[in-house]
Amino acid sequence: MTEASLSLDGKRVVVIGGSSGIGFAVAQLAREVGAEVVIASSRAATVDAAVERLRGSMGRVVDLRDEAGVAGFFAELGPFDHLTMTAGDWTGAMFGPTSEIDLAQTREGLTVRFLGALAVAKHSSGTIARDGSITLTSGMLAHRPMKGAPIATAMAGAIEHLARGLAVDLAPVRVNAVCPGLILTEHVQQTMPEAAQKGFVASLPLARAATPAEAAHAYVYLMLNAYATGQILPVDGGGLVV
Ligand SMILES: NC(=O)c1ccc[n+]([C@@H]2O[C@H](COP(=O)([O-])OP(=O)(O)OC[C@H]3O[C@@H](n4cnc5c(N)ncnc54)[C@H](OP(=O)(O)O)[C@@H]3O)[C@@H](O)[C@H]2O)c1
Repeated sequence: MTEASLSLDGKRVVVIGGSSGIGFAVAQLAREVGAEVVIASSRAATVDAAVERLRGSMGRVVDLRDEAGVAGFFAELGPFDHLTMTAGDWTGAMFGPTSEIDLAQTREGLTVRFLGALAVAKHSSGTIARDGSITLTSGMLAHRPMKGAPIATAMAGAIEHLARGLAVDLAPVRVNAVCPGLILTEHVQQTMPEAAQKGFVASLPLARAATPAEAAHAYVYLMLNAYATGQILPVDGGGLVV
């Protein structure tokens, strides 16, 4: 095998948020290129269903709202190579006019995506391989704010800066983030009307949403490239150039 191999053979990959959407696609692709994959999220039923769909994968339950639970999860898991964090809940209020922001709901909204990412980095730092990697998930709102979305913009930006800070602090473990544009996951398909999806991507150089598999490529690339750290990798149909 060459140094720049496209294989994750012999590597152990943990996908937190791997039971659906982008995370499940990452688990699928990592498995396809040879990794041993652990799918983790907060509900046992969704984890079991994902493991059923992805033959040869393993499942674990972890709720990122519970720091002690995160610590226990990594202690039980033991050594591993790469970690992908795509977990996100849809409970706290992320959108709405500034004058109507509910701070309690905002704190709730930051819990899984931001503090959860921090908890994951903290409690995996003793067991992740020194030549391993962590990949977080931000979002295009970090770079293209919209009316009614200052909180979502701030959170996506905070995650990107967390990745940059961790890349320095946890080195030689590599830390990066993928910045997705609109990805047609089950959640997006169920909650965003087709007209809104089309409107969202109409002005992009590639005027369509991405598939979860297209997003997954970026995560697997960041696992494979041993010289990539502190990077934010957009999968945005060219959204950042227009
Ligand atoms: N799809 C897009 O267009 C898009 C664009 C930009 C950014 N993003 C971001 O990318 C991430 C993934 O998006 P997606 O569309 O793939 O979402 P999704 O299908 O809803 O997946 C979210 C995952 O997070 C897990 N999760 C939720 N709460 C959790 C908790 N407390 N602890 C651990 N795991 C938890 C869910 O499983 P359980 O319910 O079993 O916990 C699920 O596996 C989200 O953070 C989203 O904001 C998505």
